Amino acid sequence: MRQSVVGELAAIQWRNGAVTLLDQTLLPFEEVWIILRTVDEVAEAIRALRVRGAPAIGVAGACGVALAAHEWDAQDTRMLMMHVSMQAEFLRATRPTAVNLAWAIDRMIAVAREAARTNNPAHLRAALGAEVETIIAEDRAQNTAIARHGAPLLPAGGVLTHCNTGALVAAGGDGTALGVIRAAHEGGTALHVYADETRPRLQGARLTMWGLMRWGIPATLIADGAAASLMRAGRVQSVIVGADRIAANGDTANKIGTYALALAARAHNIPFYVAAAMNTIDATTSDGDAIPIEERAADEVTVIGGVRIAPEGAAVYNPAFDVTPAALITGIITERGAFSPAEIPSGK
Ligand code: MRU
Repeated sequence: MRQSVVGELAAIQWRNGAVTLLDQTLLPFEEVWIILRTVDEVAEAIRALRVRGAPAIGVAGACGVALAAHEWDAQDTRMLMMHVSMQAEFLRATRPTAVNLAWAIDRMIAVAREAARTNNPAHLRAALGAEVETIIAEDRAQNTAIARHGAPLLPAGGVLTHCNTGALVAAGGDGTALGVIRAAHEGGTALHVYADETRPRLQGARLTMWGLMRWGIPATLIADGAAASLMRAGRVQSVIVGADRIAANGDTANKIGTYALALAARAHNIPFYVAAAMNTIDATTSDGDAIPIEERAADEVTVIGGVRIAPEGAAVYNPAFDVTPAALITGIITERGAFSPAEIPSGK
């Protein structure tokens, strides 16, 4: 049977007014499911990367807004709406770069405002729960369509990817870039995946290798610094990555290290694809310079697996994302089709 993440379970689920998710910080060694019932718990899970990857963060944010309405027993709709709006802003601030979070929160708030007009708190709560389910269903459909549009673009041979973009970033589907790889593999394209380890949080080593091995797709883990050398040796025929925010001009923010890959791919004449849903395109951000880049704690760089690897007091700069200019991107693969960065449609 086709495996989603664990059996047929989705990495993030909305069930009985609570969020159930696979704690990604413990993978690949422990598969621990956690149940979140409050906005604080959702915010902590997003900040700590228990749930991560732009689409999954969006789903988590939507669930958080629904929980805000459930966790507070107000009978007055106006008071409840104020609480929901405040909690939504709290959730929005947890991670700044992935636009899916802001997109999902805006969508939930619009639904809440509309439902609040009935002056019935129970109706408001029900409307938010229903919207989470709609967002989850859309996420799955987007994954399927992205994979369908992207699979024919990957040539046989080595395909290099960065960070983690598979079922763990989805609410039941196969994710974005890794979903394309899986569809191409299952469609008969002879692929060998090279997965960057993705310092500092090692999403490639811990999560992408785990996912690819579960799916039975041939894959080799490489240190980030090995990518250009593999390209030079002729072992990489395409690169495909996900995205956390795509600006209106096609400039794309993705996990730190992506820009270097795009430069190396261009130098070796290798196609460089970005796979993402339309809700990752931010028409209100004109170009990459306007994308906010999250900086994370120094100990993500100085400590690996609980072991300190840099001198105490070492200065650290730890941006979680970088921006790849549109000019280095061969194609952006969305649920509506694959586009050159100059021709992307303007999001939702
Ligand atoms: O910091 P993370 O792990 O949430 O980073 C986001 C990512 O997973 C990547 O940048 C990814 O390529 C885009 S999201 C599918």
